[in-house]
Amino acid sequence: MKGIIAGPASSELGAKIASALGWRLIPLEFKAFPDGESYIRIDWEGFEGSDVVLIQSTHPPQDRHLMQLFLMADAAKDAGMSIEAVVPYLAYSRQDKMFRAGEAVSVKTVCKLMRCSGIGKLFVVDVHSEEALARSGIPARNITAMLSIGRYFLGKGLKDPIVVSPDEGAKRHAERVAGILGCEASSFRKERDRITGEVSVTPSGARFSRRDVVLVDDMISTGGSMLKAMAAIKAEGPNRIFVACTHPLLGEGVGRMLLEAGAEEIVGTDSFPNPFEKVSVADPIAEALRSSA
Ligand code: R5P
Repeated sequence: MKGIIAGPASSELGAKIASALGWRLIPLEFKAFPDGESYIRIDWEGFEGSDVVLIQSTHPPQDRHLMQLFLMADAAKDAGMSIEAVVPYLAYSRQDKMFRAGEAVSVKTVCKLMRCSGIGKLFVVDVHSEEALARSGIPARNITAMLSIGRYFLGKGLKDPIVVSPDEGAKRHAERVAGILGCEASSFRKERDRITGEVSVTPSGARFSRRDVVLVDDMISTGGSMLKAMAAIKAEGPNRIFVACTHPLLGEGVGRMLLEAGAEEIVGTDSFPNPFEKVSVADPIAEALRSSA
């Protein structure tokens, strides 16, 4: 049986996953030194030579959570453990290619560092680009929370629903949610100015009038993508608009802006602790770990 080590960024989720699997939770001691550096100690007595799964999300402050992950992995390696890691939200995953000459491809850098610190296999949830993950140089598996998000919406009594993503890259998410709801999926075409970050969206021709619309994406950050999509949908007189994502990274005031713009509800998961978690990723993660054990 493998052991689970829940990192400082994912102590609750790690405990949920361990309990869903019936696997042992290996105690971890952590603290921050007065200058901000992290201290990590795995209390591995009794677990010598075990295979372990580290659970550590890398939401803000991303660099600190990543560093804690590297320390956990290196300490586990020093204890002779073989290591897999679940990083439900993978920081730095949006820069998955060189858009402008000279840019660092951050998802590649992060995966390389994980590999160097001893992680043999990586599990992530609704990563920004599955293609980039496949090229990242670390054996990796993407788990989707979209089926669980879809099941959440089954309880909402949706009227003539349509599931839409704010860009074509996220259409696969809309399709998964729509598959559960048994309804149409569509996507906007999004363009983002690489210098200013300004977003513009073009509708795909789907009809929104008098329908309940579920807007889904892998993550919401500034809310710019969702707000632009909502404005285009609202212009057509929809019934209700729900906003959902796996990773609700919403900055200060973004939740309020989305609600003021007309979102009925903001639905997120517990891929990291946040105020919008309505759906848990513990079961899909536990299932993926069980099937790969
Ligand atoms: C990027 O394409 C992602 O899938 C999200 O659409 C994006 O990161 C959301 O960011 P924001 O909320 O700042 O528009």
